[in-house]
Amino acid sequence: MPAEYLEKLFGLGGKRILLTGAAGGIGEALAGGLARAGAELLLCDIAEDRLEALAARIRADGCSASGCYMDVANLDSVRGGVAKLTEGGRRVDVLINCAGINRREGFLDVDEATYERIMGINLKGLYFLSQEVAKRMRTAGGGNIINIASHNSVGMLGGCSVYGASKSAVAALTRSMAVEWAQYGIRANAIAPGHILTKLTAATWEHPARSEYLRERIAMRRPGSPDELVGVAVMLASDSSSYMSGMMIHVDGGCLAGGSPWPYDTNY
Ligand SMILES: NC(=O)c1ccc[n+]([C@@H]2O[C@H](COP(=O)([O-])OP(=O)(O)OC[C@H]3O[C@@H](n4cnc5c(N)ncnc54)[C@H](O)[C@@H]3O)[C@@H](O)[C@H]2O)c1
Repeated sequence: MPAEYLEKLFGLGGKRILLTGAAGGIGEALAGGLARAGAELLLCDIAEDRLEALAARIRADGCSASGCYMDVANLDSVRGGVAKLTEGGRRVDVLINCAGINRREGFLDVDEATYERIMGINLKGLYFLSQEVAKRMRTAGGGNIINIASHNSVGMLGGCSVYGASKSAVAALTRSMAVEWAQYGIRANAIAPGHILTKLTAATWEHPARSEYLRERIAMRRPGSPDELVGVAVMLASDSSSYMSGMMIHVDGGCLAGGSPWPYDTNY
């Protein structure tokens, strides 16, 4: 039976997934897709109104979700949130670190406050939340971590020095987690989205020159949709990827592959 076989391979029934940045463009798409695949979603974000509205929409769909305020840049908030979500020994089977911010600014102009803010969320937040959750996963006998990295983990855009550094570090941390925590039954992988159309990137895609610059660098000549990240997230969250750890999967429409070629003459 194909449905039963797919359910066994990719089904997320019984898994509790803690997702940060859940109220954002990519977070919302992942939350809906993972919930429909059977997981219970623990949605974390600082945007409480959007979080509660999302949890309600997922529940109205017949799936399981609840919202929890968590500021990943604040260690007290991280520890308090994780303690609340694991009260009574409840497990977190999968942690998805999706919260992230960017601010486009030249390397020569970035001040310390901007540096600390981006690094505080994208890197320090991911680091200490993962540490907090992994301690519980170790006690529970295993777990699974998915980090949302970026095309900027490997290929750089101008004005993204701090963001790119934070996302390159996310790729490195994914390897550290895989190497150090395999002994506890924890595996870790990353998804590196290319240019996805969300509120974070809408202004760039609306700008004629910048959107053309991007199209030239994407073989498919279009932005990705957050929904196009759901399949790989389900695969990584499910037991179908049980032998995968420390890897980063690019979902980028052929950006890293080389982008869109110039018109060429096949006869030369
Ligand atoms: N959109 C893209 O093209 C793209 C490409 C590559 C990687 N990414 C990454 O994907 C992730 C999601 O991006 P998005 O496009 O959905 O952006 P988004 O701005 O729509 O969502 C980000 C979410 O993170 C939340 N957040 C911000 N600070 C937080 C904090 N301190 N604690 C908890 N939550 C916080 C925001 O409230 C928001 O809901 C980010 O890590 C981003 O770097 C996005």
